[in-house]
Amino acid sequence: MIRNVDAPTVAHVRAASAATSTIPTHILDDARQLVSPLGSIDHALTTSRYQSPLRYPGAKSSLAPVIARILDAAKASRTVPEINLLVEPFAGGASASLRLVGQGIVDRVLLADVDPLVTAFWQVAAADTEALIDRMHDEWTRYVKPGGATGVQRWDYWRSWMPAANAKPTMIRLGLAMQCLFLNRTTFSGILHGKAGPIGGRKQESPYGIGCRWNPESIAERLRYVGHLYGTGRLVDVWRKDWRQTLADVPEYYPHLIPSRVVAYLDPPYIEKASHLYRASFDPRGGYGGDEVGKSKPNDHMLHMQLAEYLRTKAQFRWLLSYDNNPLLTGSPWLYAQARMTPSAEDRETLGVRSWAMTKRLVTMRYTASGKTGKRSADELLITTLPPSTVPVDDQLRELA
Ligand SMILES: C[S@@+](CC[C@H](N)C(=O)[O-])C[C@H]1O[C@@H](n2cnc3c(N)ncnc32)[C@H](O)[C@@H]1O
Repeated sequence: MIRNVDAPTVAHVRAASAATSTIPTHILDDARQLVSPLGSIDHALTTSRYQSPLRYPGAKSSLAPVIARILDAAKASRTVPEINLLVEPFAGGASASLRLVGQGIVDRVLLADVDPLVTAFWQVAAADTEALIDRMHDEWTRYVKPGGATGVQRWDYWRSWMPAANAKPTMIRLGLAMQCLFLNRTTFSGILHGKAGPIGGRKQESPYGIGCRWNPESIAERLRYVGHLYGTGRLVDVWRKDWRQTLADVPEYYPHLIPSRVVAYLDPPYIEKASHLYRASFDPRGGYGGDEVGKSKPNDHMLHMQLAEYLRTKAQFRWLLSYDNNPLLTGSPWLYAQARMTPSAEDRETLGVRSWAMTKRLVTMRYTASGKTGKRSADELLITTLPPSTVPVDDQLRELA
């Protein structure tokens, strides 16, 4: 019987909250002021198709070239002459950030996510890379490698693992990072929670066993790439924060980049089915909606509306947003029906918020469908406050019907 980590006992909650309080919200105590010269990125992975060590559900590796195109056009237009910092407040597997910084489209990236497991992973991958690689090799050799008959027991161990409340913070962080990496690499579709089981099933009768997505050399190379980005100042920090705090804190930490030298790329949980995929979703019933998933409730879209309201009225720097192509998003005035941002007179005055146009396009993306083999195509909605002249209409960036 798989222990249900989504219904933790009081002891679990205490241990988890003790652990969460010792997970730093940042890697660095103070923001790097971004004055240090940028080290060169000398790494084979910059040109590789995939850079992220995580196989994250809804990963945007195939959207990254489209985003790169728009950012390059914006830089060429001189409206946004340089992008010194790309902020990703819903980082997940960070596929877009890793690619954009690796290719030099943006100078530096800042990752943030509200899930402590995910942020512990990125913090340790960045700042304690070799320790995580050692743990990863150890787990592979002892439990996951083909013939390692204890893979499913180890999966159960990590699914129910909670750090001891009296453990040292560095050990808690390393444990959470390893938990994230183990479950991501061995669970169906890389899902970290809910009903998703181990790859190959509990009986491991499938030709694709629990270790089939775990190539230790390739994972080590990707982890070293993250460490390299951090070491060369390209990855400036990893924040464990709610998106609102991230967007509000960037102007505090990096005031000299506001408004035109920083851009946010936001990839929030989809309107549909996100609670199946992420431990933190916009489902008001919690990260995992369980059996309630699919039964719509009147306030289901409340958190999407809060994000939309912030982006329409308070964002102090330009943004790109990707979503599932749900007609509600561009049809509702509570979401993104408007053509421009509408900040209040006070926010214009005190925060310097502008009224940028919001350009909308559809992009066809190829996904690995959850629960199915092969790829499927789906339209992704892209909305941006980058200058409309830099967002063309063509085969790749289609106008909304
Ligand atoms: C669609 S995924 C991002 C995928 C990512 N773009 C990639 O390529 O892997 C959405 C992410 O948002 C995070 N998230 C959910 N609610 C959040 C919130 N309130 N604030 C910040 N992050 C949140 C989830 O933990 C998840 O990692």
